Amino acid sequence: MERTFAIIKPDAVERKLAGKILDRIEANGFAIRGMKKIKMTREQAEGFYYVHKERPFFNDLCAFMSRSPVIVLCLEKDNAIADWRTLMGATNPANAEAGTIRKDFAINIEENSAHGSDAPETAAFEIPYFFNAFELV
Ligand code: CMP
Repeated sequence: MERTFAIIKPDAVERKLAGKILDRIEANGFAIRGMKKIKMTREQAEGFYYVHKERPFFNDLCAFMSRSPVIVLCLEKDNAIADWRTLMGATNPANAEAGTIRKDFAINIEENSAHGSDAPETAAFEIPYFFNAFELV
């Protein structure tokens, strides 16, 4: 079993798409080990996305991620990291496969409805960034 970290982003929560995205998560065999609704501070968003701090989109991204609540998740299944990325689709919804979350729900490359860890080392940073051991069940 593998764990990954996921976020239902502000654009999706604002448009009341969280239930539809959670339904896809469960229908695709992921166990939800942790889940909470939070509103990130600007500083939390900057810390979470620190690997992107030199990228031109960093400031806009951190403003977007801290503008309204998100749902943070720890998901578990065999091959969870790759399978969640497949279910989300490409970062840019214009390039996402039909039937993926980003193709169906995302607004653009920034407001792209969902986040997922891209590797085991990333998941090992991202899961404890938002969850303590008692919150993973
Ligand atoms: P995410 O998978 O959370 O990882 C970084 C985020 O930066 C990405 O989804 C998008 O929300 C955002 N982003 C904005 N512009 C770009 C871009 N040009 N390339 C990649 N990510 C971008």
